[in-house]
Amino acid sequence: MTDSKILDVTPDVKWIGIRDYDIVTFDIVMETKYGTTYNSYFINAGKKAVIETTKATFWDTWLDKIERVADPSEIEYVILNHTEPDHSGNLENLLRLAPGATVVGSGNALRYLEDMVSIPFKSMKVKEGDTLDLGNKTLRFISAPNLHWPDTMYTWLEEDRVLFTCDSFGAHFCTEEMFDDLVPDYHDSFKYYFDVILKPYSKFMLKAIEKIRPLDISLIATGHGPILRSNWKKLVDLSEQYSREYLASSQPEDKNVLLAYVSAYGYTKQMAEHIAEGIREADNAIIVETADIETMPLGDVDSLLTRCNALLVGSPTINQNTLLPVYKLFALINPLRDKGKLAASFGSYGWSGEATGIIEETLKNLKLNVMEGGFSSKFYPHAGKIDELREFGKKFGKRMMATAEGV
Ligand SMILES: Cc1cc2nc3c(=O)[nH]c(=O)nc-3n(C[C@H](O)[C@H](O)[C@H](O)COP(=O)(O)O)c2cc1C
Ligand SMILES: [Fe+2]
Ligand SMILES: [Fe+2]
Repeated sequence: MTDSKILDVTPDVKWIGIRDYDIVTFDIVMETKYGTTYNSYFINAGKKAVIETTKATFWDTWLDKIERVADPSEIEYVILNHTEPDHSGNLENLLRLAPGATVVGSGNALRYLEDMVSIPFKSMKVKEGDTLDLGNKTLRFISAPNLHWPDTMYTWLEEDRVLFTCDSFGAHFCTEEMFDDLVPDYHDSFKYYFDVILKPYSKFMLKAIEKIRPLDISLIATGHGPILRSNWKKLVDLSEQYSREYLASSQPEDKNVLLAYVSAYGYTKQMAEHIAEGIREADNAIIVETADIETMPLGDVDSLLTRCNALLVGSPTINQNTLLPVYKLFALINPLRDKGKLAASFGSYGWSGEATGIIEETLKNLKLNVMEGGFSSKFYPHAGKIDELREFGKKFGKRMMATAEGV
């Protein structure tokens, strides 16, 4: 679909973004059933500026829009609040037509661009509070890192009272209209975008929101989805609320251990039960949760992972590997949240027994504090093994308590 629309955000700020109705997944991690938009803005000031480019695949459509608002060679500044290629993808194409333009971004943004753009370009590194004089307009930069890359920042156009926030307060939601008061309710998209992209960085979201509260904002120009001219405050408040809720709920319970396992014939399950007994023997204050995760909904696995402060993962070896439900559990481990939790592996095997080692290595790579020497048991955990499994559990439980007491 050709998209020729240009919108007046203010008399001097034009939306020259792209509407992408056809995208079905974004960043691999999310479904985009309402499509998305790559919002790009042109500031018609004494010195002409563009804020965010667009995804590379939309170059022709975007160029057409740029040419309708300015001679590309007259663009003096390109501001990138975030360098993910959905926003920086057409920077190189634009620079070829505007070789004199200066690219403005955080230190991290400029470092990332060195590895994304193959031609030399002029750059200006900005930090918290720096300003850029566009002749009759002023841009002020607000450092807002880790939302959701280390490079992120916000840009404040003082005279128009417009705040450009890129991914923050955005949503994958594409409709003919672009202003929040003209689009249907899109709260589900907004919440989904927050949950997948921003929620893990809630701590940083709260810091950024605190910084923008004193601004007399008339409008928030996001990087995806509707431009917030009527309800920006509501969406900022919601982002604050969701961040606080997430931070409160993602605190692990003290002394809560999860034994998550899969088991085809029940041997690994029996191992889990003996280990659990050993942990309880170590200290009966420890809450032990055992969970067969083979068919458990991912949301439930995630809740268990969030709540535990120690984790044991069990799996039989099947074809020299562990199994898909265990890999799904790995995908749910969030090093930002779970880093440092005590962890170990266990599992039944027949002849080669690779699963426990694979689990142990992966838990290490995901930054958990691994108790090495995962417990492997050949087929049935017979009488002699039961005591060893209990001892293994006891050792784990004691280490858990020692870690909790900071010993
Ligand atoms: C399809 C299949 C493939 C297997 N592949 C391996 C293997 O590559 N290496 C190994 O040590 N055991 C292998 N085994 C044996 C299992 O690990 C063993 O039966 C184990 O005791 C199962 O434990 P569970 O009852 O907890 O599922 C395989 C078993 C099956 C059914
Ligand atoms: Fe992004
Ligand atoms: Fe984005």
